[in-house]
Amino acid sequence: MNTDDIDPKALFTFSYGLYIVSTTLGDRLNGQVADAVMQLTADPICVAACLHKNNYTAELLEQSRKFSVSVFSEDVPLPFIGNFGFRCGREHDKFVNCNYRMTTGGLPIVTEYTIAALEADVIDIADVHTHKLFIGRVKTAQILNEGNPLTYADYHKIKKGKSHANAPSAIFNAIK
Ligand SMILES: Cc1cc2nc3c(=O)[nH]c(=O)nc-3n(C[C@H](O)[C@H](O)[C@H](O)COP(=O)(O)O)c2cc1C
Repeated sequence: MNTDDIDPKALFTFSYGLYIVSTTLGDRLNGQVADAVMQLTADPICVAACLHKNNYTAELLEQSRKFSVSVFSEDVPLPFIGNFGFRCGREHDKFVNCNYRMTTGGLPIVTEYTIAALEADVIDIADVHTHKLFIGRVKTAQILNEGNPLTYADYHKIKKGKSHANAPSAIFNAIK
């Protein structure tokens, strides 16, 4: 493949939201920011999250096989995103810095600066080079707060946020 044939700006035209993908294993809670989250099917409702293999969330999720997705609202402050997106749960308990609650299914959902959340059971994991794609069947979904979802485009354009090296979209930092 000739990389001259790939203009990264073309990929920057894709639209995404911004989410916290969380899981729990034993007494460990952890979550990470991800833009690579999408709904796949309607009946049954399935979603997918693409997580870097080095991330603690991916490590835990591979064993727990269940995850939640909390949807950021557009009023979320940058440091709040940074807590989940630029720190690793191996060294730091991210949930001490935020309001959250545990679902009856035993998953943490972040209840501040978020507008909705869902829980899913992992039905498949695909190996995608540097990342793992976790495919989940949705068990519950709920609106948490009034507001609009933060888009990944506004995270870059309005909040002047950066992508993390472990995000599939990390190349966007260089082309903005
Ligand atoms: C705006 C933004 C988007 C991100 N998107 C993804 C993503 O889609 N997939 C991913 O694996 N990491 C993504 N990351 C990076 C993880 O959130 C980051 O590596 C985090 O520190 C991992 O935490 P953990 O080791 O506790 O799991 C993103 C980070 C930011 C700030």
